[in-house]
Amino acid sequence: MAVLADSDGGGSDFPAKLTGQVILCSLIAAFGGLMFGYDIGISGGVTSMDDFLLKFFPSVYEKKHRAKENNYCKYDNQLLQLFTSSLYLSAVVCSWAASFCCKRFGRKRTMQMAAAFFLIGVVLNAAAVNIYMLIAGRICLGAGIGFGNQAVPLFISEIAPARYRGGLNVCFQMLITIGILIANVVNYFTSNVHPYGWRISLGGAGFPALFLGLGSLLIVETPTSLIERGKTEEGLRALKTTRGVDDVQKEYEEIVRATENAKKVKHPFRNLIMKRSSWPQLFCGTILQVFQQFTGINVVMFYAPVLFQTMGLGGDASLLSAVITGSINAASTLVAVFGVDKFGRRKLLIQAAIQMLISQVFVGAILAKHLKTTNAIPMPFAYLTVFLICVFVMGFAWSWGPLGWLIPSEIFPLETRPAGFFFAVSCNMICTFIIAQAFLTMLCQMRAGIFFFFAAWIVVMGSFAVFLLPETKGVPIDEMNERVWKKHWFWHRFFRNEDEEHAKC
Ligand code: BGC
Repeated sequence: MAVLADSDGGGSDFPAKLTGQVILCSLIAAFGGLMFGYDIGISGGVTSMDDFLLKFFPSVYEKKHRAKENNYCKYDNQLLQLFTSSLYLSAVVCSWAASFCCKRFGRKRTMQMAAAFFLIGVVLNAAAVNIYMLIAGRICLGAGIGFGNQAVPLFISEIAPARYRGGLNVCFQMLITIGILIANVVNYFTSNVHPYGWRISLGGAGFPALFLGLGSLLIVETPTSLIERGKTEEGLRALKTTRGVDDVQKEYEEIVRATENAKKVKHPFRNLIMKRSSWPQLFCGTILQVFQQFTGINVVMFYAPVLFQTMGLGGDASLLSAVITGSINAASTLVAVFGVDKFGRRKLLIQAAIQMLISQVFVGAILAKHLKTTNAIPMPFAYLTVFLICVFVMGFAWSWGPLGWLIPSEIFPLETRPAGFFFAVSCNMICTFIIAQAFLTMLCQMRAGIFFFFAAWIVVMGSFAVFLLPETKGVPIDEMNERVWKKHWFWHRFFRNEDEEHAKC
């Protein structure tokens, strides 16, 4: 498993092989994605199970079964949405704590904490006897996700050689999508296990957490994190073994230089906000996550079964359709694993924006024309909508999904990396929360218009990728400022007085 990375002229000129150790460590870390994905996929199915609704949300159960209930509004219930979304609020707060843990205790320990929180959440949820236990469990799961999503992408981006960073980092997204798919399949079967199928669904989340917790005992800490915490010799040794070559002096010196710069920065959060030269990374890292969520992807991920039932597909058919979208999501992510270091980040983002725009507009048009207040949509159109949603998911899966995590984890200099990445993760969580909390109400109020709402966002994000986002393919992670930002047609102006600013911070 040794491919020597030669210089590609674009930047990745530190000698390195793609070692088995790097692949193994990246895969184990990516189990954090499995936890996250399983949770995303399980919520939608569980909240459409009758046993679950009857136990915790009897009013929604009643509404759902009232024959002439308004199609667009039958699941609109704030408490039900709070079940899905409380996790994301907790994840925001916890990813802030996790950014300190990443710096102080390292990426590996932070991942172990993630697994521990997640396991506690799983026990509370699977054993829940009332809504409070359910929400408390969601809060612990949120802590696990906050810690995991903060540590895993940083870990992979730091441990991977520049040339393979994109592909390895996308493994995180790959496991998110596999997690969602497994959850959809589990829901498909447990929905027929009465009355406790939902407990099996929620309890299943324990497996990915166990994989991450046990697997993390086998992985090494990133050389950057070791050197950053003063363990320079260990860091040099780790660099040699992870790179699979002895000639790591140049990269080592680069990391030491980056950590020395980082040590001068006592307040990374203040530095990020006050220093002009931090704004380009901060803006691009956070806006990418906002955009990722405003593609509308989680409407499909959380509410696909609900959405398909709204269109008149039966309960089983809707869960099955969710399994189909889940499989397409996972399979299409492979395009990103292999394409991201080949085609670059921007090309994927732009191509996919066009594809997603077309499908959102068509879905909106079909629902506007055929789904009235109480009817079911004619079957051919229901299937066409499922198909269009698959096209949408496909585009997302090889672009805004993985790159929403990859790019923010690679664009910050070391001194602001965990803090900057915290802003990105928390923006993701806040926007996921907003969508999870608001979607059913928006569907009820805006009806088919909601799809045009997301389409408008896609136009904005596509333009952003065309004009403002720099390409980061193949550039060593600690050289982004010099090679990317300072050379960008727009962002370079933020670096004009960098030295003066540095002296002040
Ligand atoms: C997003 C999730 C989304 C998932 C779908 C992830 O990158 O952060 O919110 O549900 O992709 O595959």
